[in-house]
Amino acid sequence: MSLNGAQVRCILTRAGAQFITPLTLSSLSGEKVYSELFSHTDKNYMDHIRLSREADLIVVAPASADILARMASGIADDLATTTLLASNKPILVVPAMNTLMWNNPATQRNINLLKNDSIHFVDPEEGNLACGEIGSGRMANIQEIVLKINSVLYKEKPLNGFKGLITSGPTQEPLDPVRFISNHSSGKQGHALALAAAALGADVTLVSGPTSLINPQGIETINIKTAEEMLNACIHSLPVDFAICCAAVSDWRPIKIQDQKIKKQSSKILDKSKTTIEITENPDILKSLAQLSPDKRPKLLVGFAAETENILEHAGQKLIDKGCDWIIANNVSLDSDTFGNDNNQVTFIELNSSGELEHEEWPKSSKNVVAQLLLKKISQTLVI
Ligand code: C5P
Repeated sequence: MSLNGAQVRCILTRAGAQFITPLTLSSLSGEKVYSELFSHTDKNYMDHIRLSREADLIVVAPASADILARMASGIADDLATTTLLASNKPILVVPAMNTLMWNNPATQRNINLLKNDSIHFVDPEEGNLACGEIGSGRMANIQEIVLKINSVLYKEKPLNGFKGLITSGPTQEPLDPVRFISNHSSGKQGHALALAAAALGADVTLVSGPTSLINPQGIETINIKTAEEMLNACIHSLPVDFAICCAAVSDWRPIKIQDQKIKKQSSKILDKSKTTIEITENPDILKSLAQLSPDKRPKLLVGFAAETENILEHAGQKLIDKGCDWIIANNVSLDSDTFGNDNNQVTFIELNSSGELEHEEWPKSSKNVVAQLLLKKISQTLVI
């Protein structure tokens, strides 16, 4: 099975099998799960060599203090450590353990030894640990790991020296201290774009509305709530070489934000019989960036167009009306399962040299793969 375009094979250690079953791992990866170094039933007794040769990268996650110690000493007494010792590929270690074990001089000594051996690391975060204590030792979040995997795998950094701005997530437009107007955007596509851009070496500023996603490590993230705050943060981040407006910006905001929670009975802005809210239009961030003077306008400006019908026609018109260079049209009709999910089905639209709209349909794929395809196109256009 392909995960974000990668074929994943898992080796499960004896300790790992106390936490997760081989069946779970094989269901998730769609591949056989390996655990035994010497199997009486399996003819492939050279699995450790084959597994280490066939992989482009080996990720050890979660890496315990024990496996770090065994790796640092070159011990090879099970399939995982034997495969690691037999590897000629990059190795990425993602430690997770109790704070005292993490801070123990023996563990830190082993980490330094491994770093000197060119082993890559994604350091743990601070937070609640599985043992019930709080401190550093919690495994890094998945997006950090994906970013590091991409940056280790893609040795070429074509966007090194280029600055990018990406908007992500929804905006929230307050009505009173407890209510707001917003939408279903999860921020997954925008955050994936930021990670893909950083993996290609770009210096990225991510301007994000409220999402459940953790700010990605190593990417300057400006957290905002309203469309006006998003616009200010974007203007503040200029100049940039490229900007991708992926946020689902609320088109309108309530004209007046009430200081106190609006009561059902004494509503001043809600007419009880009609229940109307007075709203005004929000600034269009994409259009505002497009209209900047040439010294401030991003050299390449990309918009997203979430459409439910006549997708090409509507998205193409949006490209012209907003004045961006490319638009990525995505189908958010009820049967498309785009909002909040990991997959996206998009069409790339641009104006050709004769001023005609041209489009290219991209296969339905994960939001990470869509991000990688778009960033590859951006790097091919910017890097001449
Ligand atoms: O007009 P519509 O909301 O469909 O346009 C979508 C595109 O415009 C997206 O790229 C979105 O990020 C951007 N947009 C914006 N500011 C707004 C509304 C949309 O930047 N107020």
